[in-house]
Amino acid sequence: MNNEGSTILVTGAAGTVGSEVVRQLSAKGQIGIRAAARSANNPTFKDLKSVEIVELDYNKPETLATAFKDVNKLFLLTPFQSDMLDLTSNLVNAAKKSGVKYIIKQSVMGVDAEPGITPGRLHRQAEKIIEKSGIPFSFLRPNFFMQNFVNFYSSMIKSQGALYAPAGDGKVSFVDVRDIAAVAVQALINDNQHKGKSYNITGPEVLSYGQAAEILSRELGKEIKYVNIPDEDARKEMKDMGMDDWSANSMIELFDITRKGYASDISSVVEELTGRKPISFSQFVKDYAQAFR
Ligand SMILES: NC(=O)c1ccc[n+]([C@@H]2O[C@H](COP(=O)([O-])OP(=O)(O)OC[C@H]3O[C@@H](n4cnc5c(N)ncnc54)[C@H](OP(=O)(O)O)[C@@H]3O)[C@@H](O)[C@H]2O)c1
Repeated sequence: MNNEGSTILVTGAAGTVGSEVVRQLSAKGQIGIRAAARSANNPTFKDLKSVEIVELDYNKPETLATAFKDVNKLFLLTPFQSDMLDLTSNLVNAAKKSGVKYIIKQSVMGVDAEPGITPGRLHRQAEKIIEKSGIPFSFLRPNFFMQNFVNFYSSMIKSQGALYAPAGDGKVSFVDVRDIAAVAVQALINDNQHKGKSYNITGPEVLSYGQAAEILSRELGKEIKYVNIPDEDARKEMKDMGMDDWSANSMIELFDITRKGYASDISSVVEELTGRKPISFSQFVKDYAQAFR
């Protein structure tokens, strides 16, 4: 392994992608892993002895200075929210100050689409902040996560045996976040091979939400129905869950491009960088079956 001894700071480390990046770096025996969470007492990595947990709030300069001390490489992940560019600037400025030599940014597939939609446009603007910083970078641009089915749909799947979404029959090359993390880890460890590159990251197949529901039914041994709902019903449901208008509108834009088939490209990046095929949706359901029961 090259670059031994360098400190890698993983932001968003208690989240869906970041936690996998930390676990996989640790499993590879990488030393100097610093996992940033808003609370230093976050229990996510309590069993991983090689991981240092640091408190980091992107809006609190005093936590930025401590978290970035002696950091050489940065996995940069911000939540998707309306102030995402401010959060990105705060992180990139801290990276510049502390002499970070490489940034991997978690972005999104479709950032280069014209005219595009809010999530893609915002992530592209965030990528440009990094490009302007002069720090070498790689951009990871994944499609919709398979883990969205756990994080957003598992309670309706469990309680109603149904998957409600305004996705029509549009097909999506869903990707397992474990594959995104595997690509991130390859790039963090072998950064010289990946500097300046952008990677679309997808799963191995395209599936409509109806086909995803069929696979869920087969793997879980009970019927899960897909119900295509109007945008307005989805918007109401998201607002009832506490989502703000800006975020709900962005989600509706994502479902619109999904219905139109713009989320269906397949990339070979996972296999090229890891030497193995990406995880299929049925394998994902097998591995996460408990979350749906
Ligand atoms: N979901 C998808 O299908 C999809 C597809 C492509 C790209 N993306 C992109 O992926 C990113 C989301 O990744 P994810 O699902 O792994 O996120 P996530 O699970 O929601 O985790 C986000 C993490 O960000 C941390 N965070 C939030 N605000 C913070 C702040 N002010 N300071 C420090 N940390 C903060 C949280 O830390 P704490 O836990 O400590 O609070 C949390 O762990 C977004 O940029 C999204 O656009 C998502």
